[in-house]
Amino acid sequence: MTVPLIDPFQRAISYLRVSVTDRCDFRCVYCMSENMTFLPKKELLTLEELDRMCSTFVRLGVEKLRITGGEPLVRKGIMTFFNAMTRHLESGALKELTLTTNGSQLGRFADDLYAAGVRRVNISLDTLDETKFADITRWGRLPQVLKGIDAAQAAGLRVKINTVALKGFNEDELFTLVEWCKSRDMDLTFIEVMPMGDIGNEDRLDQYWKLSDLRARLAEEYTLADLDERSGGPARYVRLEETGQKIGFITPLTHNFCESCNRVRLTCTGELYMCLGQEDMADLRPALRNHPGDDAPLEEAIRAAIAMKPKGHDFDYSRQSVEGRMSRHMSHTGG
Ligand code: GTP
Ligand code: 5AD
Ligand code: SF4
Repeated sequence: MTVPLIDPFQRAISYLRVSVTDRCDFRCVYCMSENMTFLPKKELLTLEELDRMCSTFVRLGVEKLRITGGEPLVRKGIMTFFNAMTRHLESGALKELTLTTNGSQLGRFADDLYAAGVRRVNISLDTLDETKFADITRWGRLPQVLKGIDAAQAAGLRVKINTVALKGFNEDELFTLVEWCKSRDMDLTFIEVMPMGDIGNEDRLDQYWKLSDLRARLAEEYTLADLDERSGGPARYVRLEETGQKIGFITPLTHNFCESCNRVRLTCTGELYMCLGQEDMADLRPALRNHPGDDAPLEEAIRAAIAMKPKGHDFDYSRQSVEGRMSRHMSHTGG
């Protein structure tokens, strides 16, 4: 029996998020600056190396694998990697293989993802207004994403929409988004905007819409029942009694959820970030590359990294200033 991964705060690490590329076909204003410099392709772990990394984590007790980016589906040959992970679902070691995507490429990939064993996708979408969508994503086009969502549902994938709550931007669409998700039988999760990356002139405090306020607005129209149900991520869910639908809240600012953190993040270059909101990381690439036929050094490096997992992030806007800010962009670690 392998000893499970337990961090210094007695949290079991069973969820690995893997950013397979830092590139994206969008430039969302809260995520990237207009002119991003991306990593040279030769810096990336190969698909085979990603397989070896993930398989090692699975052997150490990871049961949930979420593929992120950048936009994961723009990574060349990415289906080869998904198909390779299917064997861990089939063996029962992996309980869930999933991804977080902007939806733009789902028209091409939805069927293949389902065939690889993916059953659920999280799709980022902040507005249903075409002009606003073009503004917030800079490069994105709403109709293409809506087609991607159609393709995902037609393929049999369960869809959860992730919406970053943005003051003055999508406040007026709260009920439209809720009703739209209901009409399409999709779950919906709102996220508080986090201070990740230098994004130019956008001011986080101006963007910040507290989910406690959003929730209060929702409660004016619906009866909210708190659910104990968890999807293995940080979201807390409520059910709207009138419609039966499930709404999630991810509240790094108003309600810290770090005490139940079960996840770590691997970047596309093989760095392991133990917390989204801290700079600590361990470079796993030497252990991987210097020992081609032997996973023991990699396992050791992973255990050493988990032993350094910090207690939590320090994001805080409560003093009317942005504290706990991270210099790296969200696309580096995949959210
Ligand atoms: P489910 O499996 O559906 O529960 O997914 P999830 O919420 O784990 O994954 P998803 O990619 O949908 O995450 C949504 C957003 O939540 C991410 O983009 C992050 O911004 C945020 N998030 C996820 N994990 C953490 C975390 O550990 N800390 C913080 N601060 N935010 C997180
Ligand atoms: N704060 C909160 N969420 C963010 N995302 C990207 N940048 C930020 C940020 N600064 C979200 C995207 C997507 C997920 C991967 O992360 O909208 O849903
Ligand atoms: Fe791309 Fe997602 Fe970042 Fe938008 S939030 S630029 S879709 S990685």
